[in-house]
Amino acid sequence: MDLFEYQARDLFEAHGVPVLAGIVAHTPEEAKAAAEKIGGVVVVKAQVKVGGRGKAGGVKVAKTPDEAHRYASDILGMDIKGHTVHTVMIAQGADIAEEYYFSVLLDRSNRNYLAMCSVEGGMDIEQLAVERPEALARVAVDPGVGIDQAKAQEIVETAGFAPELHEGVTATLLKLWDVFVKEDATLVEVNPLVKTGSGDILALDGKVTIDENAGFRHADHAALEDKESADPLEAKAKANDLNYVKLDGEVGIIGNGAGLVMSTLDVVAYAGESHGNVRPANFLDIGGGASAEVMAAGLDVILNDSQVKSVFVNVFGGITACDEVANGIVKALEILGDEANKPLVVRLDGNKVEEGRAILRGANHPLITLSDTMDEGADKAAELAYGK
Ligand SMILES: Nc1ncnc2c1ncn2[C@@H]1O[C@H](COP(=O)(O)OP(=O)(O)OP(=O)(O)O)[C@@H](O)[C@H]1O
Ligand SMILES: [Mg+2]
Repeated sequence: MDLFEYQARDLFEAHGVPVLAGIVAHTPEEAKAAAEKIGGVVVVKAQVKVGGRGKAGGVKVAKTPDEAHRYASDILGMDIKGHTVHTVMIAQGADIAEEYYFSVLLDRSNRNYLAMCSVEGGMDIEQLAVERPEALARVAVDPGVGIDQAKAQEIVETAGFAPELHEGVTATLLKLWDVFVKEDATLVEVNPLVKTGSGDILALDGKVTIDENAGFRHADHAALEDKESADPLEAKAKANDLNYVKLDGEVGIIGNGAGLVMSTLDVVAYAGESHGNVRPANFLDIGGGASAEVMAAGLDVILNDSQVKSVFVNVFGGITACDEVANGIVKALEILGDEANKPLVVRLDGNKVEEGRAILRGANHPLITLSDTMDEGADKAAELAYGK
C-alpha cells in the first residue's frame, strides 16, 4: 500500500525524522485556516499517489493565507496523471539551501535491501538516474544488519556529502531506517531531503510503501487505507477476501491458483484477437477452497462489472474437487438469482472432473456452457463477449 505524502510525514515525525509542520485540507477555507495556524510562508501541496506533482503545478508556495486559499482552490480538483486531487497538505515553508535524495527499498532482484542517495536531489532525480547514474549512489543494505552508523556513513560518503554534513545526514538516515523496519515498509523515499539556510537537515517530501502482509503487526495501518479512491469492485472483493484486480476488458475470469489465472488471462487475450479484440476484464483467484459462497462472492463481483459481457470459469480440481466446484457454481447462480445475467463458460479438469461435469449438465442452466479444454473455453467466452 502506497501512502500519501502527509501520511508519510506523520510516520516520519512519529519516528523522529526531522520534518516541518503539515496540515491536511479538503477545501480552500481549510487551507487558509491551516496557513494561518502555521504562520509565515507555506507550501500548498497536492496529495496524490503519483510522482511529478511539482511539475504538474500541484506544489505552490503561498506567502499569505489568502494566497494559500487561492492555490488550494486551483489545486483541489486538479487532475495529475489521472489522479484527482481531493486533498492538499499545507506545509510550513522551508528555507532551502540544497536538495538531496535518499531512498531505501526492498530490492527483489537481489534479494536484499538497497539504499540510494544523491547530493543532487529534487524534481529531476529520475532524469539524473538515467543520464548520470554515477551521481546516484547505490549501497546494498544487509537485512540482518540494516542501516547502522557504519552503513549510514558509507552511504553519505558514497553519495559525496561534504564532511560537515555527515553527522546530520547520517542521524536522519538512521531514523529513516527505523521507519522502514518498524513500520514494515518496502520503500521509504525522501525527495528532497534538504539542508536549510541554517544548516538543518529536513525531510521535505516522503513516499512510503507499506507491506500489507505485515498488517497483522500494525493495527494502526488499516486507517491509512484510501477508501475514497478505491475501485468499488476491488473494495467489495477485498471485503470478501478475494484476490481480485480489475482490468479493462470484457471477459470476466475466475480461476483457482494465481498461476492458472495468469495463464487464463493470456489465453483469453489471445483468443480475443479472433473476436473483435475482446480482453480479460479482471484477475480473480478464488484460491484453494472454492466453496459455493466463495464462488458466489467471486461471480457477484464480476457480474457487477458493467464492462463484463461473458465469464470464463477455469478451475483445476485438486483438494477441492470438481464436483464441489460444480455444486458451488450451481449454488452461486441460485444465490445470485436475477443478478446472474451473463453467459458463463466453464472448464473443469482434475480431481473428480466427470462428476463435476455431470452436475453442471444435470443443472442444465441456460447461462452455462461447458468446455473441455482451456483453449476452447477461452475461445467460446471471447466469442460470447464479442458483439454484445
Ligand atoms: N515545505 C516546503 N518548503 C519549501 N519548498 C518546498 C517544500 N516542499 C516542497 N518544496 C519544493 O517543491 C519541490 C517539489 O516538492 P515535492 O518534492 O514535495 O513534490 P514533487 O517532487 O513534485 O512530487 P513527487 O515527489 O511526488 O514527484 C521540492 O523539490 C522543493 O524544492
Ligand atoms: Mg518530491
